[in-house]
Amino acid sequence: MPSNKKLLVLPGDGIGPEIMGQVRRIVDWMDKRRHVSFDISEGLVGGASIDARGTPLTDETIADALAADAVLFGSVGGPQWDTLPFDMRPERGILGLRKELQLFANLRPAKVFDALVDASTLKPEIVRGLDIMILRELTGGIYFGEPRGIETLPDGTRRGINTQVYTTPEIERIARVAFELAGKRQRRVCSVEKANVMESGQMWREDVQRIHDTEFPDIELSHMYADNCAMQLVRAPQQFDVIVSDNLFGDILSDCAAMLTGSLGMLPSASLGAVDPDTGRRHALYEPIHGSAPDIAGQGKANPLAQVMSYAMLLRYSFDMGEDADLIEQAVENVLSAGVRTADIISAGIKPVSTEQMGDALLAELDKLAA
Ligand code: IPM
Ligand code: MG
Repeated sequence: MPSNKKLLVLPGDGIGPEIMGQVRRIVDWMDKRRHVSFDISEGLVGGASIDARGTPLTDETIADALAADAVLFGSVGGPQWDTLPFDMRPERGILGLRKELQLFANLRPAKVFDALVDASTLKPEIVRGLDIMILRELTGGIYFGEPRGIETLPDGTRRGINTQVYTTPEIERIARVAFELAGKRQRRVCSVEKANVMESGQMWREDVQRIHDTEFPDIELSHMYADNCAMQLVRAPQQFDVIVSDNLFGDILSDCAAMLTGSLGMLPSASLGAVDPDTGRRHALYEPIHGSAPDIAGQGKANPLAQVMSYAMLLRYSFDMGEDADLIEQAVENVLSAGVRTADIISAGIKPVSTEQMGDALLAELDKLAA
């Protein structure tokens, strides 16, 4: 079926292409069975782009991403590119896309599936039923602040510099997304910084509080220092609903939250730009939280579920296709309940399935659910 919805697929490096292969099967299934049709093109990013084009992010990929309604991203990076300078590394591919598309809001849900409670390194009673959302600011802070660099001092020693910097508009817009998300969940936001040591953190706290008081007084707001938050996440994660934090703390806390669920291989994410008031469109990119896992790449062992659920998030957030997203998430849950596991989420007495077998199981489950 022809479609006016443009999807750009960027598999990237490592396990990216093999897990994306399984997602493409589900995209096809959705097209045939649910008439969810896209105009799909595939592009290069990261190490794959370095090898083919000499740079991790070409102008062509940027233009395609800007023109797309949504980008489905795999993962980038690998040891063969680790010695390149920062601006030539695969990671620049994703960082550049976040910046070019102004994807300032990064939604990282951490949800524990009942079937996987035992895969968590935490006790079942701590993580059962867990459902939190980490909202990470994605285009500011120390990741992009200037000055940055490594300089050699007159005495021959070196100095490395990065700059943490946030403006009030940057804080206000991420705060609004946090309160809006919380409004559709349990109505609680915990804002995280280091206001006890950093001026930017102090300002962050004041700005978030003001947006709360003036625009979202009905949502519960608390503030927490980032170190305490890391501790609370492993001590009593159920106290949280939405956690909002800056780029660096959000990076760290979301890995921590992800592990509560048992595997990084389970977690999707959405990165959203601002809604254009004229067109109603917003740039959006969806990617699994896990990296390119070069150690298992090409072996057919990788867990495709985070990539699959990134596609579900894409349907939900970019195209308002909540029912189709629910269907995919239900299929994932059922497959897990039936004991189908890749190696990363294996439990005793079960034989792990391959990436492709996980795809087979999902498609069979979707057939069942749609019958
Ligand atoms: C993430 C990753 C990236 C980041 C890397 C790959 C640049 O860790 O998306 O969390 O640090 O933002
Ligand atoms: Mg990270």
